[in-house]
Amino acid sequence: MHVGILTGGGDCPGLNAVIRALTLALTEAGDVRVSGIRQGFLGLLEDRVQPLDAVRLRGLINEGGTLLGSHNRADPFAYFGAGGADCSARALDCLQRHGIDVLVAVGGDGTMTIAERFARLGVPVVGVPKTIDNDLMHNERSFGFDSAVAVVADALERLTTTARSHGRVMVLETMGRHAGWIALEGGLAGGADAIVLPELAYDGQALAALCERRCREQGYALVCVAEGVKLAAASAGETVGQRLMQDLAPRLGPEAELRYTLLGHLQRGGAPTAFDRVLSTRFGVQAAQLVLQRRHGHMVALQGDRCVSVSLTDVAGASRLVPLDHELMQAARCLGVLANP
Ligand code: F6P
Repeated sequence: MHVGILTGGGDCPGLNAVIRALTLALTEAGDVRVSGIRQGFLGLLEDRVQPLDAVRLRGLINEGGTLLGSHNRADPFAYFGAGGADCSARALDCLQRHGIDVLVAVGGDGTMTIAERFARLGVPVVGVPKTIDNDLMHNERSFGFDSAVAVVADALERLTTTARSHGRVMVLETMGRHAGWIALEGGLAGGADAIVLPELAYDGQALAALCERRCREQGYALVCVAEGVKLAAASAGETVGQRLMQDLAPRLGPEAELRYTLLGHLQRGGAPTAFDRVLSTRFGVQAAQLVLQRRHGHMVALQGDRCVSVSLTDVAGASRLVPLDHELMQAARCLGVLANP
C-alpha cells in the first residue's frame, strides 16, 4: 500500500510528531510505503511528492513546524494559481501517477472541507485534526492547543510583574479566529483579571468597571482578549487589542496607564509540550489504524479520553465555539474574570 500525507493550513507544534507516528505505525505494520506531499494541497497540484524515511523521522517528536511545509490557500477546487478555477483533476492525476492509494490530510476546517470533497470524488481519505484554536467540530482537543496555552500563560506571568511595578492595565491579545478556547484556558492558567471572549457580546463598560476594581484592590489589571472578539468601529489593519485599548482608555480616565501586547505567531512556533507530543502520537497511530482498516472518509478525534473517528461530512464547514455552560466558562464566571457574565 502507498500512503500520501500532507499538512494544510497554518502550522502548529505537533505536526511533525503526527507525521512521525503515522509513518512509524504504518511501516511497522507491514508492506506500506509512505510519501510526503509538500506545501499541503499545493503539492498535489505542483507534483511535490517525496518518499518518507521512517528511520529519519524517529528523532522529530519534539520539533515544531512541519517538515512537509504547508499552504493556507491552495484549494484544488478553487486554485489561486489558475485564477480560482477547479483544478481537482490535476490533483487526482498526481495521486494516480504516484500510485497513492490513501491520502492522509492533517489540517483544520479548510483542509477537512477539501478532504471531504476529495472523499466524495472517490479518493480514499483519512483526516487528522489540527488547529491551535481547538475549534474543530467533534474533537475535544487538538494538538498544538496545549502548547499555545502554555505560551499565553507564560506571557501573562511576565506581564504581571511589570504591570505590578508600574500600576498598569495590560492587554494581551491571543489567537482564536472564531473561538475563545486559547484566551479562556490561557487566561485562567496565567491568572488574568479579565478574559474577553468571542462567544460573549463585548461590554466595554463592564470591562472598564472590572479593571477599575482590580486596580483598586491590587494596583494593576491584566486583560486577556481573543482575536475573534467583535468590536465596533474597526479601521483597516487595526487589531482587536488595539480597538479594545481605544475603547477602554477613555473609560478608565487620564490617570490610567494602558499597554498592549500582541502574542501572534509566538503561539504557533516552537516545540510541542509533552501533552501535545503524546496527543499527536495518538492521532498519528489512530490515523494509521483507519488507513489499515480501510475506514476512509473519516477524521481522527479525541472524545473524553478516547481516540475515535468521525465522518468528514460531520466536520467540514463549522467551528466548535466554547459552550456558554462549559465548566471552564462557569469557573471563569465564579472567579469574576468574565466582564460580561
Ligand atoms: O487558525 C489558526 C490561527 O492560529 C488563527 O487563530 C489565526 O487567525 C490564524 O491562524 C493566523 O494564521 P496565518 O497568519 O497563517 O494566516
